[in-house]
Amino acid sequence: MLEKTSKTAKITIDGTTVEVPVNKGSLGPDVLDIRSLYKQTGLFTFDPGFTSTASCESDITFIDGDKGELLYRGYPIEQLADKSNFLEVSYLLLYGELPTKSQYEDFSGKVTRHTMLHEQMLNFFRGFRRDAHPMAIVCGVQAAMSAFYHDSTDINDPWQREVATIRMIAKLPTIVSWAYKYSIGQPFAYPKNNLQYAQNFLQMCFSVPAEEYVVDPILSSAMDKIFILHADHEQNASTSTVRLAASSGANPFACIAAGIACLWGPAHGGANEAALNMLKEIGSPDRISEFISKAKDKNDPFRLMGFGHRVYKNFDPRSRVMKQSADEVLELMGITNNPTLQVAKELEKIALEDEYFIEKKLYPNVDFYSGIILEAMGFPTSMFTPIFALARTVGWLSQWQEMISDPNIKIGRPRQLFTGKTHRDYLPYEKR
Ligand code: CMC
Repeated sequence: MLEKTSKTAKITIDGTTVEVPVNKGSLGPDVLDIRSLYKQTGLFTFDPGFTSTASCESDITFIDGDKGELLYRGYPIEQLADKSNFLEVSYLLLYGELPTKSQYEDFSGKVTRHTMLHEQMLNFFRGFRRDAHPMAIVCGVQAAMSAFYHDSTDINDPWQREVATIRMIAKLPTIVSWAYKYSIGQPFAYPKNNLQYAQNFLQMCFSVPAEEYVVDPILSSAMDKIFILHADHEQNASTSTVRLAASSGANPFACIAAGIACLWGPAHGGANEAALNMLKEIGSPDRISEFISKAKDKNDPFRLMGFGHRVYKNFDPRSRVMKQSADEVLELMGITNNPTLQVAKELEKIALEDEYFIEKKLYPNVDFYSGIILEAMGFPTSMFTPIFALARTVGWLSQWQEMISDPNIKIGRPRQLFTGKTHRDYLPYEKR
C-alpha cells in the first residue's frame, strides 16, 4: 500500500510555490506524487522512456538494481529457482502467497485441463508461411484467441478474469510449441495431462508420433528454471504495454498479444536470440577485443547483446542462475567443448574488467546465458523469444489482474511536449 510521508517537495514557478507530496512504498525510492501538478501549475513533467517515472503502484515484483536483487512477492529469485517450480511461482505471482498443497493441486489441475487449443485454431497456424518467425505466429495466434473467448471474457467479473488467466497460462506452451512444429514441418503434438508444465512443453516441442518420447529430468528442470527466471520483471516495456493496452478495458487475450509484440524487440526479449547470434559471429575468443571496440565506438550502433539493463547496475541475479544451469545442461548433453560457451565466458571476463563497462555498470543480463542452454536443448535461436513470452505471460497476467481489480483504474494516457508546427492554413497545390 502506498504510504503518505510527512515530506513534501516544493516547486517554485514564476514566483508561485506548490507543494508536492512525497509518498513511500515498502521498498525502493520514494516518489513525488505529481498527480495534481498539472491542475495546480498547468505544467507537465517530461520523462521519455520513463527513466524517473513510477507508472503505477504494484506489490508483485521488486528489483534492487544496485544490489542486483530480484524479489517475487518478497521471495528472492534464487530461492524460487532452486526450491520451487513454475506453477507454484505462477500461483505466487497471481495471488500473492505461496499455495498450500491443496491450493497448488487445484491450480495445477485447472491449468492442466486447459492446455488444448480449439481445433479450429489449427487453421491459423496453417495460414502462416513455413518460414514465418515463430514470434509472429505466437503473436498472431494469441491475438486470435480473443475471437474464441470474447463473449465469455467480461473483465469486470473476477471469475471470468480468472478463467481467462488460467486459459492463457495453460495454452501458451501449446501455441509456442506448435509454432515450432509448424516451422519444421512436423505434426503438432497434443498436450499430455500426466506431464508437468515444463515436461509437457518439451514433449510438445520434441516428440514425434513415430517414437516414444521420454523427458529428461535435468532438461525439464532447466526448462522450469528458465520459466521461473523470466516469469515477471516489474514495469518493463512489455508489461507496461500490456497495462496500457488493458487500461482501455480491452480484451485480455489481445492485450497479452500486445505484450508479445513488444517483447520481440532486440532491446527487450529479442536480446536472447541476438546474444547467441552475436556469440556465434564472434566465433572464437581471439575476436572478442574487436567486438568490444565496436561496442565502445560512439559512431557504431553495435551493442554487446546480453549486456546492460535499465534497472540492474550490478549483476543481473537471473544470469548467475542461468550460468550454473548452462553448465549442467551442457554436461548432460555431453557438450564439453562448446565454442559458444567458451566465447561467452571469455567475453564476460574481459567486459567485466574493461573500464567502459565498469564505468557504465554494464553486466551480463539474463539473456546472455539463456540462449546457450536453449540451443543445447535443441531449440533454434528463433524459438528463444517465444519461450520468454510463454514464461512472461503469467507476469503480464498478474500485473493485468492487479490493475483491473483496482477500483481507481484510469486509462493510460501520457501527455507530450509538442515541438511541431504551430497553427497554419491549408494551401492548394499551386501555392505549396
Ligand atoms: N553495449 C555497449 N554499450 C552499452 C550497452 C551494451 N550492451 N548497453 C548500454 N550501453 C551504453 C550506452 O551506449 C550508453 O552510453 P552513453 O552513456 O555513453 O550514451 C550507456 O551505456 C547507457 O545506455 P542506455 O541505452 O542509455 O541504457 P538504457 O537503460 O536505456 O538501456 C538496454 C538498457 C538493456 C536497452 C541496453 O543496455 C541494451 O541495449 N543492451 C543490449 C540489449 C539487451 O541485452 N537487452 C536485454 C535486456 S534484459 C532482458 C529484458 O529485460 O528483456
